[in-house]
Amino acid sequence: MTDSNVQAPSLAKLLTHHSEKWRGFDRDVLPLPVAEMDFPVADSIRAVLAEMVAQSDLGYLGSVPELAAGFAKFAAERWNWSVDTSQVGVAADVGVGVVEVLRVFTKPGDTILINSPVYQNFYNWIDETHLTKVDVPFTRTGPQSDSDNPWQLDLDEVEKAYAAGLKVHLMCSPHNPLGRVFSKDELTRIAEMAKKYGVLVISDEIHAPLTFAEKRFIPFLTISESAREVGITITAASKGWNIAGLKCAIIVSQNDAINTKLDEMPRAVHFRASILGAFASAAAFAEGGVWLDSVIKQLDHNRFLIRDLLTTKLPSVKYHIPHNSYLAWLDLESLNLGENPTQTLLEKGRVAFNPGHSYGAQCSQYVRLNFATSPEIITEAIDRIVRTL
Ligand SMILES: Cc1ncc(COP(=O)(O)O)c(C=O)c1O
Repeated sequence: MTDSNVQAPSLAKLLTHHSEKWRGFDRDVLPLPVAEMDFPVADSIRAVLAEMVAQSDLGYLGSVPELAAGFAKFAAERWNWSVDTSQVGVAADVGVGVVEVLRVFTKPGDTILINSPVYQNFYNWIDETHLTKVDVPFTRTGPQSDSDNPWQLDLDEVEKAYAAGLKVHLMCSPHNPLGRVFSKDELTRIAEMAKKYGVLVISDEIHAPLTFAEKRFIPFLTISESAREVGITITAASKGWNIAGLKCAIIVSQNDAINTKLDEMPRAVHFRASILGAFASAAAFAEGGVWLDSVIKQLDHNRFLIRDLLTTKLPSVKYHIPHNSYLAWLDLESLNLGENPTQTLLEKGRVAFNPGHSYGAQCSQYVRLNFATSPEIITEAIDRIVRTL
């Protein structure tokens, strides 16, 4: 395998992995939850890690200008976003970044908006910071085609939430699990409303590098001066380049007042990140483009493979083509798998997915399927659903 032809290894090989995805279940269960990929990592990442281990260069993380420089290069090339490297901070992961930012910008009891169904740890981060959750959920009301995502966000409802004294809007952009990329119009309106009502927008952009060609991912901070006055982006190379275990994320702001406030974060937020993660992330952003494009090509194949398999084998299951990343959001209601389809599929089908209810209580009949794996494993997963019926 090379960086330009990335492929997942065999199931037998994957079963030797040490991560939660591969250790969280009995050996006969085919695991497709947990957002990590089954693909081998990029050569540039492998090289930097091998060299640092060979040199026993495994101390605490100090200054790492390579990371901000790598991110700025990637952001300029892929998104036409000019990032000032002095405005890029480091945290151990996106979760820690969000929680630490919330700690300096809010006090317990302040309100925070999410849009369910959404990445399950958003709920945990809100609990951890003792904030009060407000939800304006997405609804499945829009048109659906390969280029249209059926999940819509009612921005008038979002405005009502802002007007009621909201403190923070935690956005998932692009969206997990809906595979939805926000449009320029949507982001522009959110930035304008946030400025009008004094809302801080935290934009979790961890899935952005994995956006498919038919959509353009737009970083929130590129939208307008208003966006830069109200916004903080938290992101990482960990999702795009499959290095979540290395523990490194970045916090980006492009506004002096926000930066001054961010300076109140403890210095430990930086050095609690891992030195391996920081240098691997720098290599990913700076040199990981060929690998990333190869992975996107495989994921592109896989998202349509799921459509084709469902059309043939499970035509009543609802699925829309995601515009980013590797998460399929399947509505299994028609299969009558009981109150908790994930549990039924695990027990009877020996196939594991993430349960829809953890993304939003209204989505209990959904499962999230991670398709960052081989076509063979995806096919076997769909077959196991069929065999459960
Ligand atoms: C939207 C989103 N944010 C954050 C994370 C986790 O990031 P980290 O491990 O850096 O906290 C994930 C992982 O799946 C995610 O989907």
